Amino acid sequence: MSATHPISAPAAKLTRSQTAARAAYVLAGNDRGRLTVAAPHLYPHMWSWDAAFIAMGLARVSTRRALTELETLLSAQWRTGMVPHIVFTDDETGYEPGPRRWACREVCPDAPGHVATSGLIQPPVHGVAVRRILDAARIAAAGERQEVVERIRAMWPALLAWHRYLATRRDPEERGLVTIYHGWESGLDNSPRWDAPYAAVIPAPGFVPFRRADLHALSALGGAAAQRPSDADYTKYQWLVEELRRARYDDERAHRTLSFRMGDVLTSALFVAANEELATVADELGLPGADELIGYADRFRRGVLGTCDESGFAADVDLRDGTVVRTPTIAGFAPLVSGGLDAARRRALVERLMSADWCGHPGFVHALPPSTSPASPDFDPVRYWRGPQWPPMTWLLIWGLERSGEQEAAHMLREAAIDQLADGLFAEYYHPFTGEPLGARAQSWTAAVALDLLAT
Ligand code: SER
Repeated sequence: MSATHPISAPAAKLTRSQTAARAAYVLAGNDRGRLTVAAPHLYPHMWSWDAAFIAMGLARVSTRRALTELETLLSAQWRTGMVPHIVFTDDETGYEPGPRRWACREVCPDAPGHVATSGLIQPPVHGVAVRRILDAARIAAAGERQEVVERIRAMWPALLAWHRYLATRRDPEERGLVTIYHGWESGLDNSPRWDAPYAAVIPAPGFVPFRRADLHALSALGGAAAQRPSDADYTKYQWLVEELRRARYDDERAHRTLSFRMGDVLTSALFVAANEELATVADELGLPGADELIGYADRFRRGVLGTCDESGFAADVDLRDGTVVRTPTIAGFAPLVSGGLDAARRRALVERLMSADWCGHPGFVHALPPSTSPASPDFDPVRYWRGPQWPPMTWLLIWGLERSGEQEAAHMLREAAIDQLADGLFAEYYHPFTGEPLGARAQSWTAAVALDLLAT
């Protein structure tokens, strides 16, 4: 099916069933057969954590198609177990940095030969998707359920290899924090979390940044430059790709040479949750590795909790010098995803999440988590991860709150999220004060989150 972009706003807010139908339509429009592009113009390829959310949404429509999404992603896995953050479609889409810039196959023998990928990771939420697909298959016909179980069995070695890669090469000192080599790896590209560490990322003299394609991709919508990372940020992003390419995407060399090396607390918390979810799948299906997965979950939970202040708010760690980098960004709520706080600190953290510095700001159209606190001087209500509300982050917090037994807060966020998504545009992110859709429209993971929230 060719791309369908229902980017015009409906006359009135959609009902729940209309929202779900339109979300399924968006995913079908972005379907390229064995993968769903992250968004039609801005992101015309497969992104790793987008694919996991997309699979969770697709599970509400077809568990078989949901599994295909994960199979396509895992078919691009590197020999080290790394799952790349972008799997490129065959198209010459003009996305930058594209396959030629990454040159993974050319410089690294661990990269797959049959498909072009990036040389970075993204947060490992795939295990959460596998668990949800298996759950969705419970109500399927016996034949479908049997097929789902067999296909999960077949992908199991790849899933274990991915988690082993993260637990070893991305945490060689066993601190319980996933090392990231680039802000892109966190998924929260230009979050204020990375401002201080990026100060140390200085492109070599003579480095010529490449053409930005993102602003052009959004030009039809207007205001793109204010909604995307700045040019100064982009030059650093591009330089870090260059540093990684020069390290030949070798983890050991990267740990020694890169000018950005952060212990990412939110990625670590998501890794805890994914390990726990996969361990339940292992138990249920009699698959190997449950103890190993629980061991990873325990280590990374200790790592996350070790960064918390007295109210349970978490921080990142600069692994180059051990500095704790504490910023008022959504990543601070990582313990609500990893679990492990005692009841008093968990309560304090939930209260903080619901306070006027976060979801409860009296000016917000929807009481949903902003990517950066509006009380921070770094808050910017339109610029990507510096303030806007992102539906998949809302989803993660709802899910984390439900897992921690914080049902009331989870319910409030869920209702607000469903109301936000009833605009039927499935924007990439939203302006907290005006409710305006920002970034890409018909963004696949937003549609996927809508489908999941409306189904449960
Ligand atoms: N989020 C990045 C982008 O904006 C890539 O991972 O293209």
